[in-house]
Amino acid sequence: MRSEAEPALKHIAIIMDGNGRWARKRGLARIKGHTAAEKSIHDAVEVCGEAGIKYLTLYAFSTENWSRPRAEVNFIMKLLSRFIKGNIDELHRKNVRLRTTGRLYDIPDGPRGDLEKAIQRTSANTGLNLVLALSYGGRAEIRDAVTIIAEKVVSGELSPSDISEETISNNLYNPDIPDPDVIIRTSGEQRLSNFLLWQSAYSEFVFTPVLWPDFHAEELRNSLEEFRARKRRFGGLE
Ligand code: FPP
Repeated sequence: MRSEAEPALKHIAIIMDGNGRWARKRGLARIKGHTAAEKSIHDAVEVCGEAGIKYLTLYAFSTENWSRPRAEVNFIMKLLSRFIKGNIDELHRKNVRLRTTGRLYDIPDGPRGDLEKAIQRTSANTGLNLVLALSYGGRAEIRDAVTIIAEKVVSGELSPSDISEETISNNLYNPDIPDPDVIIRTSGEQRLSNFLLWQSAYSEFVFTPVLWPDFHAEELRNSLEEFRARKRRFGGLE
């Protein structure tokens, strides 16, 4: 166990992929894979806590996922409520601050209410920030930032020539959260799927064939070791 936080590893972001395939391999309905995903989420929070990591962002539901069959979408929304209600006491006890990124207003009233209560209850916690990306799309986030910036230009608060990269970063959903140091994707797929497009400019990518419901603590530790072995130059020289 690492006793203090690593400066080079503040933020881990994970694309939790492979739930459906995990279920199919077992002759189960796809939704059983989403249910099995809970244990891996639990483990990711544990590992981040023990490593002193400040931010863990989980891609739980994308803007594109709304096009899935209605029954699957409804199931994921119910699972979200169940996850919040079933884990909030423990998360709070562990000093975890629950947050979200994405168009939360798209989430149905029930799970959104559960989330809002949990966010409020854990808002003063100072440990891990557990950020659930819900109805999240990287392009939607940049589009929303552009709208806010355009409104500031129209109102005269901002001049077009003053728009910098920092202006864009500062108008994203959570401007205080540092860019992810590493983005992990499970299940063997090697793409970003509209996740954190702006913030991933210098992120390291770790791809693993392990399906998300099998991605337990040891698998995450292995992915973090792979990240630690990388040399990051941010476009400069060593
Ligand atoms: C990807 O697997 C998974 C999703 C799109 C949904 C993720 C949802 C959860 C982990 C559960 C709900 C979230 C919380 C926070 C409780 P897939 O279905 O695309 O798998 P496949 O590629 O094998 O079909």
